[in-house]
Amino acid sequence: MGKGTAAAYMAGNAILYHADFLDVAGDMENSSVDMVFTDPPFELTGGGMKNGKLNYKGGEVFSNCGFSTKHIAFGRWIPEVYRILKNERYFYVMSNDRNIFPIHAACMDSGFTFCELLVMDKKMTVPSSYYPKRAEFIAMYRKGGYRKLRFTGSTVLESRLPRGREKRHPTEKPVPMIEHLVRCSTLEGEVCLDPFMGSCPVGEACIKAKRRFVGAEIERRWFEASQDRIREADSNR
Ligand SMILES: C[S@@+](CC[C@H](N)C(=O)[O-])C[C@H]1O[C@@H](n2cnc3c(N)ncnc32)[C@H](O)[C@@H]1O
Repeated sequence: MGKGTAAAYMAGNAILYHADFLDVAGDMENSSVDMVFTDPPFELTGGGMKNGKLNYKGGEVFSNCGFSTKHIAFGRWIPEVYRILKNERYFYVMSNDRNIFPIHAACMDSGFTFCELLVMDKKMTVPSSYYPKRAEFIAMYRKGGYRKLRFTGSTVLESRLPRGREKRHPTEKPVPMIEHLVRCSTLEGEVCLDPFMGSCPVGEACIKAKRRFVGAEIERRWFEASQDRIREADSNR
């Protein structure tokens, strides 16, 4: 996969890099992966939660995610995703209601075609200055032409977020929802990339769905959480 970046952890069908995605990307060939699914880092602006309390100051910039690397401009990494993805393949990117607009602009600038806006129904609300928030969004794009696959279910994905002791990362996403999208968008044995893997639910979803996985994570604690998750998923196969 990569030409020069040392693979920090390789197990079965997964390669995990403890590195900045842009460095990993620099070693990845053009058109070398079959799907990209990611939940990228971004700063929260106004209307979110700060120290467990609602932030009422619209426009204030903060992060409650506990990452030391808060933000990497969408215009820096989305073009790399486009380059690395094969033709007629799908890119899914998660977002809140604010960042979806600059993410969409960066995807359009990179050459992607917009496919769908999926809604993740979290089945719980978070306070807001306006309507209590219950959804996150997954924008789906394709590179090149349409690839006919079986897209089952609907554009609303009902998902229970990991809670309490089962939670491995502050913004962890549910494996069953990701596994569904991986199965719909790829064939067995194909490769899925997550540039910002966090605790690696995409890797676990790929192992369950018999797909190969490549992921990058810049922070050691989340990289180690990813290794643990992949070890567990491999041993449960
Ligand atoms: C929103 S979180 C992903 C959480 C993940 N979906 C999960 O369920 O665990 C984004 C992750 O990207 C990582 N990150 C931030 N900048 C990065 C970079 N330049 N390269 C790789 N990872 C980065 C952060 O440390 C964080 O863990």
